[in-house]
Amino acid sequence: MSEAKRLAGEKAIEFVEDGMIVGVGTGSTVAYFIDALAGIKERIRGAVSSSEQSTERLRRHGIDVMDLNDTGPLSLYVDGADECDPHKRLIKGGGAALTREKIIAEASERFVCIIDPAKRVEVLGYFPLPVEVIPMARSLVARHILAKTGGQPVWRQAADGTGVVTDNGNAIIDIHGLSIVDPIAMEAELNQIPGVVSVGLFARRPADIVIVGGEPPVVL
Ligand code: A5P
Repeated sequence: MSEAKRLAGEKAIEFVEDGMIVGVGTGSTVAYFIDALAGIKERIRGAVSSSEQSTERLRRHGIDVMDLNDTGPLSLYVDGADECDPHKRLIKGGGAALTREKIIAEASERFVCIIDPAKRVEVLGYFPLPVEVIPMARSLVARHILAKTGGQPVWRQAADGTGVVTDNGNAIIDIHGLSIVDPIAMEAELNQIPGVVSVGLFARRPADIVIVGGEPPVVL
């Protein structure tokens, strides 16, 4: 799939205009976008990054990483996704960067989502839905998730068996076994649970454009 990811990431460069400050997401598909962005870095003013991982890659390429509080609204945000439905609603957060991704998506006029074909689904939920949680609320939120969604909450662990810690110092709960027929309602409901920082459903603010990597890439 990495070839499809590369083709999607490179195609997204066509949406970058001179003088832009570009919102940049996180993940292996976005890494291709960042590498391609480096080729036109003289044309842009800088980037706003959704994770330490992307910040590091942007800086390595000599691209200025700016604070969203200083830039104001952005014209363009480019990010990947874990699942994408026919309405361009997404599950995101497989890389644990969902909260900053959601903030930048909200601050951006146009959200271009770059995916490989395997990410396309009819109904969201086969990919476990990530939820970022304040650490002390982890069990409370898990109980609410069980009661409200019927899905199975699983505390995300790193390879060494310790709980994953997000760039914001929080935990991730992944909800398994969902079939999300009303993503807007589920996003709103999960957001109501005290201790939930953000939910990896991008339904209220879906993508505007989806690029599916392939030969040639398809723009939806
Ligand atoms: C990061 O938290 C995620 O939202 C990523 O955008 C998503 O997991 C897609 O990742 P890949 O591009 O690595 O498949």
